[in-house]
Formats: sequence, C-alpha cells, structure tokens
Amino acid sequence: MLKIDGERVYLRDHKASDLDVFHAWLSDAVVAKYLSWRTYTREESFTHLAHSINENNANPRTDYFFALVLNENEHIIGEAGFTIQTQTKPGGIAELGYFLLQSYWGKGYATEAAKLLIAYCFTVLKLHKVTAGCDVENRASEKVMINCGMQQEAYRKKQRLLNGEWRDRLEYALLYDDWKA
Ligand SMILES: CC(C)(COP(=O)(O)OP(=O)(O)OC[C@H]1O[C@@H](n2cnc3c(N)ncnc32)[C@H](O)[C@@H]1OP(=O)(O)O)[C@@H](O)C(=O)NCCC(=O)NCCS
Repeated sequence: MLKIDGERVYLRDHKASDLDVFHAWLSDAVVAKYLSWRTYTREESFTHLAHSINENNANPRTDYFFALVLNENEHIIGEAGFTIQTQTKPGGIAELGYFLLQSYWGKGYATEAAKLLIAYCFTVLKLHKVTAGCDVENRASEKVMINCGMQQEAYRKKQRLLNGEWRDRLEYALLYDDWKA
C-alpha cells in the first residue's frame, strides 16, 4: 500500500473500509458545488471506490487518488491525488485534485496534501510538470494552487458544463525546475 507521510496528514491508497467517509463527501452537494459531478448515490460511491482500489495495483498506474488521513487520530478527512496525463522517459504531466469533508476546510490540510503530492510527482515519478484547475469562483481551490507555488497558465472561458451552465475555468501549473528552485 502506497503511503505518503506529512507533518499533520498522510496520504494512503484507498481500501474498502473507506466507503462510509468516501460516500460522505461524494454525496455532499456543497463539496460538489464547483465540480463536474452531481452528488453520488451509495452504489455510485461504491463503484468509484472500487475503481480507485483497482488502480492501486495497476501497471502502469494513471490514477493516484488517496485517502487523506490526520496523523493525530487517523480520521479520514477527504481525498487528494492526481491523474497522470502523460508519462515518458524525459518527464511527464500530472493533474491534481482534492476534496475534503466540509468540517475540515480552512485548516491548511488541502495545501499540505497538495505539496506532498507535488513532491511525490517530481521526486518519485520524475514528472516535469504538475497542473491543477478549478471553476473561476472556487477561491479555496485556487488558493491551494497559489499556496503551492503554481502559476496561472490559462483562463478558459465557458470550459466546463456545471448544472446546465458553461463556466469559466482557471488552470494553474508548476514546473519541476521552478519547484526545485
Ligand atoms: C478546495 C478545498 C479542497 C480546499 O481545502 P482546504 O483544506 O480548506 O484548503 P486550505 O485550508 O489548504 O487552503 C484554502 C485557502 O483558501 C482560502 N479560502 C477559503 N475559502 C475562500 C473564499 N471563499 N475566498 C477566498 N479564499 C478562500 C483559505 O483562507 C485558505 O487560504 P490561506 O492558505 O491563505 O489561509 C476544499 O474547499 C474542498 O474540498 N472543496 C470542495 C471540493 C473542491 O472544490 N475541490 C477542488 C476541485 S478543483
């Protein structure tokens, strides 16, 4: 099982016993407010979790989404991870995502998780670029990207369909050379 340790949180591969808490954020309309998915039924959460668990041992692995866990009490507080967009010998690109239970928002946990993921992408997977994006009004998500040293690369107009409305999207990225410096 893959585990990435941080100061206050750690990330680990999902397991079947994560279902209750996994479904808690996937079924929360506030968490989903700026996301392209509608809220999940328990069956849909089960299928989604099964896919994540399957990916744990995939070779090559493209989805690295982890349970985000508090060191102090082992509570699962959300999910963070990335999808590999491209991976070649001379580098590759991953896109980050993070989703927390509402009660843990605003404590810096997503920023800590994103920084751990970025370090993993650059040092272990030897990628050269990490990207992330969010709805133009998803300020908390944008702030996580900024906190990690990412630079805005694009402002895409009417890029994602959300509740029947085409929404503008911000895209940020961090290059290995800038991260190392
Ligand atoms: C986005 C999300 C993961 C952030 O998690 P978090 O642990 O609260 O993030 P952090 O505490 O690390 O950082 C959030 C930052 O945004 C700021 N922020 C939060 N809400 C804000 C708002 N409405 N306007 C401006 N800034 C805001 C916080 O003050 C904090 O800034 P700081 O680091 O300068 O203090 C969480 O809000 C979430 O799960 N949202 C729903 C799912 C989602 O939208 N995920 C992103 C997909 S693109």
